Amino acid sequence: MKKKLLSIIVATAMVASLLVGCGSKAADTAAPAADAATEDAAVEEAAPAADGSVQVGIVLPTKDEPRWLQDQAQFEKILGDAGFTNQVLFSQGSSATEKTNVETLISKGIQVLIICAQDGAAAAAAVEAAKDAGVTVIAYDRLITGTDAVDYYVTFDSFAVGAAQGQYLVDNAPEGSGIPLYLYAGAATDNNAFIFFEGAWSVLQPKIADGTFVIANSSEAVALQDKAELTRDELGTIIGQITTDWDFNVAKSKAEAHLTAVGADMKGDVLVLAPNDGTARSIADVFATDKDVTSYVVTGQDSEKASVQYVIDGKQSMTVFKDTRTLAADSVAMAVSILNGETPATDATYNNEVKDVPSKQTDIVVVTKDNVKAALIDSGYYDASEFTGLE
Ligand code: GAL
Repeated sequence: MKKKLLSIIVATAMVASLLVGCGSKAADTAAPAADAATEDAAVEEAAPAADGSVQVGIVLPTKDEPRWLQDQAQFEKILGDAGFTNQVLFSQGSSATEKTNVETLISKGIQVLIICAQDGAAAAAAVEAAKDAGVTVIAYDRLITGTDAVDYYVTFDSFAVGAAQGQYLVDNAPEGSGIPLYLYAGAATDNNAFIFFEGAWSVLQPKIADGTFVIANSSEAVALQDKAELTRDELGTIIGQITTDWDFNVAKSKAEAHLTAVGADMKGDVLVLAPNDGTARSIADVFATDKDVTSYVVTGQDSEKASVQYVIDGKQSMTVFKDTRTLAADSVAMAVSILNGETPATDATYNNEVKDVPSKQTDIVVVTKDNVKAALIDSGYYDASEFTGLE
């Protein structure tokens, strides 16, 4: 009985914290947990572990990109406020470390694993180990491919991210035709890199095919420029050439090499598809110092603090805001449903080459100088004091 009371308090606190911290979407997704509080057996299962075991394990790719520290903070806050024992571990760019992390969490008794894969294919072995141990696996932000050991996927609308980046370039391109377009992509080991590029291509390709834009830095993309829809292999060929590996040093040296390789006709006013904020900043810095580049429009993604400042300063043109509060809250709501013995709510499916994974998908927001305050400060994501020059 005492346990039940505690559980109800916990469930109530959890729902309240989701309501306060995460807006209406999280409130919707928290609903199943609240319902479950009326069922004795389910409530008892949702209680925090009394034996010191970890209930929910979270594995994130790297501490070296601010993006994942944002996610970590959200997980620790939401799960902590809700009274669920949890632990976040980082793979630091290594699939071997990722697997060890998963094994460590399994040994601590986790019931739910929330994992953002370092490498979507390599992570299959880690999640299969979790499945074998009876753990429910939620792929977080990046799909794990080639295995049936993924139960759920919580993601942003990645096609929309790429399409928004492409659309921004189209809408903000200089007048005329023959405008140089530099293409960059994420890591070829990340399924999202394919979806982002596919989304961008869907918008950019017609402008390339009709000569408005001219690809400056990818012979593979040029070879496929008349194809509106690319196969996975074709996407892989282009991404293999223009990948940044999500690494700003790789992005920097590629941008330098590209600007060294081209003639004056590929400079002047240019467009740059950069896949995320870290790479956008380093590519922007390279383009800004080339005296023959008169102006550049560059995309980004993640709304990292440093890039928000770049957007305010006019050094990066846009970023895509992926509200990690919502994604973390969606995953936690899903984990809680699972701990309650329920089937979590989903609204999409993503095929991972073996199965259609039931998924929960979240919208994205394009952020420019014009709406940076409304999107990121007024929404409580960042504090105005963290930036200079905000109007
Ligand atoms: C992607 C993720 C992006 C970005 C990128 C770089 O998988 O969806 O938001 O963070 O990785 O780490």
